[in-house]
Amino acid sequence: MRVKIIGSAAGGGFPQWNCNYHLSRVARAAMAGVRSRTQSSLAASVNGVDWVLFNASPDIRQQIAQTAELQPAADAPLRSTPIRAVVLTNADVDHIAGLLSLRERQPFAVYATAEVLATLEANSIFNVLDPAIVPRRLLAAEEQVVLCDAHGHETAMVLESFPVPRKIALYLEDRAHPDADYSSDACDTIGVRITWAGSRGAIVYIPGCARVDAALREHLADAACLLFDGTVYTDDEMITAGVGQKTGTRMGHIAMSGEAGSIAGLADVKIGRRIFVHINNTNPVLDENSAEHAAVTAAGWEVAYDGMEMEF
Ligand code: MLT
Ligand code: MN
Repeated sequence: MRVKIIGSAAGGGFPQWNCNYHLSRVARAAMAGVRSRTQSSLAASVNGVDWVLFNASPDIRQQIAQTAELQPAADAPLRSTPIRAVVLTNADVDHIAGLLSLRERQPFAVYATAEVLATLEANSIFNVLDPAIVPRRLLAAEEQVVLCDAHGHETAMVLESFPVPRKIALYLEDRAHPDADYSSDACDTIGVRITWAGSRGAIVYIPGCARVDAALREHLADAACLLFDGTVYTDDEMITAGVGQKTGTRMGHIAMSGEAGSIAGLADVKIGRRIFVHINNTNPVLDENSAEHAAVTAAGWEVAYDGMEMEF
C-alpha cells in the first residue's frame, strides 16, 4: 500500500493568499525549514496503479500536476485518470471544493456520509459531476466497504468509517447565532480506517477532530499509521497571532499541545507512525527550526509535508 500526502495544510493552505503573519511571510520567502503546503488531501493505492483520494481540496489541480501517479498514464485513452474514487471525510470547503475541478465527464466514484451527500445534493453546482457518470455512494458508520470505481470494479482497499467529534461546516452555521453550539458527534465528520488484503494494522485518517475520547481511542487500536488533525498547536493560537478571534475549540479542532491536546490524549495508544496533517498557517510546527516542532518530534509525532510518501 502506498500513501502520499498530497496536501498537508489546513483550509487556506500555507502560505494563505491573504495572510501576512510571519509564518506565511517566511514561507513566501522560501526560508530554510519552512515548506509551503497545499490544502488537506491524501492519495492511496494498493497496486500503485489505481488511486483513491481522501478529500478533494481546492488545490487539487496543482496536487495532480505535482503527482505523476495521479496523471493519465502514457498508454491510457485520450481522456483518463488513475483516480478511481474520492472519499470525503466532511463537507468543509477545503475537502469538497476540489470536486468542481474534477468535472469533464470523467468516471470515478464519490464516497461520503449521508450528511455530506446532503450538502452536495443541496448545492447544485456539484451537478457538474453528473451522478450518472460520477456515482455518489453512501458511507454508513462502522460498516466495512470495498472501495470501487465508478463501474463497480474493486480497488482492493477496504474502508471503515466512524463519526468523530467535530462541528458542522462553517458555511452551514447560522450567521444570526454565532455563539450557538455547532459541535457535532454525528457523521458530519468521519475518520476512516483503511485496510487491504494482507494488511497488518490499519491506516487511520482523521484530518478534523475536536477531542480525543474513548470511542476514538478504540478506533485507533493497533493502527499501523495515524494521520491526525494538526490544525493548531495551542487552542488560542489564532488569537495570539492576531489573525482571528476563533479558538481551535470553536473551530472543532483539538490542539496538539496541553493536557487536553492530542499529543497527551493519544500518548498511551498503541500506534505505529503518528503524523500530523491539516496544519494551519498559524501553527509554529510549520517552522522546522521551532521549539514546537522539536517538542512534537520528541513526542513521537511527524509533521506532514506535501509529497510525503509512505509504504506499508
Ligand atoms: C476547518 O477545517 O475548520 C475548515 O476547513 C475551515 C474552513 O472552512 O475554512
Ligand atoms: Mn479544514
